[in-house]
Amino acid sequence: MKFVIEHLEKRVWPWCLIEYESIKDIVGKEKLIFTNIKRRNKNLEKLGKCFKERFFKIVLEKNINPKKVCVFDPQAKKTISPNEAKEFDYFVFGGILGDHPPKKRTKKELSPTLKGCIFRNLGKKQFPTDNAVLVVKKIIEGKKFKDLNFKDKLEIKINEIESVELPFRYMIEEEKPFIREKLLNYIKRKRKF
Ligand SMILES: C[S@@+](CC[C@H](N)C(=O)[O-])C[C@H]1O[C@@H](n2cnc3c(N)ncnc32)[C@H](O)[C@@H]1O
Repeated sequence: MKFVIEHLEKRVWPWCLIEYESIKDIVGKEKLIFTNIKRRNKNLEKLGKCFKERFFKIVLEKNINPKKVCVFDPQAKKTISPNEAKEFDYFVFGGILGDHPPKKRTKKELSPTLKGCIFRNLGKKQFPTDNAVLVVKKIIEGKKFKDLNFKDKLEIKINEIESVELPFRYMIEEEKPFIREKLLNYIKRKRKF
């Protein structure tokens, strides 16, 4: 079983890298694949296997059965269930940063390339990519989507007066929203300038 992150941002921004590190910690380096990595990136190579190609090319070249590939798109019609999750070999996510309101980039930029694959959602609200991977991991382990707990919207306090809102859905893990300390520090640092 492999987790594929199809990087669809212009660069591997620091925010992307922090989320990708988080994904490596969730699934492990051996199970993680990054596709559409145009320029060699040593930081990414530490986290998983990197390919220049888009994933659809790898599916064709390696003769992967598209029915064994599950693509996560908030616009897909069905939510993934624990029973079917066990049957897939590849779980594909957009390496797309959250935007508000969502521009449906997964539907426009990722899903049309992966013809014949299975498309599933994790509800309608958008998760950051690392949270989407964590939710899928829980579902593979047997949890039902409806039994997981979430928090919509995080407010990050920068100082006494300022705060930043992250209008995304976060999984509650150990009684708090799942977000890396490193990302919180990055957001706070950026806001100070
Ligand atoms: C931050 S989301 C980007 C969503 C983007 N704004 C859109 O509207 O398509 C990054 C990735 O996490 C996965 N994801 C996040 N929320 C999801 C959901 N509710 N259902 C399915 N996949 C989701 C998708 O693979 C998506 O490409």
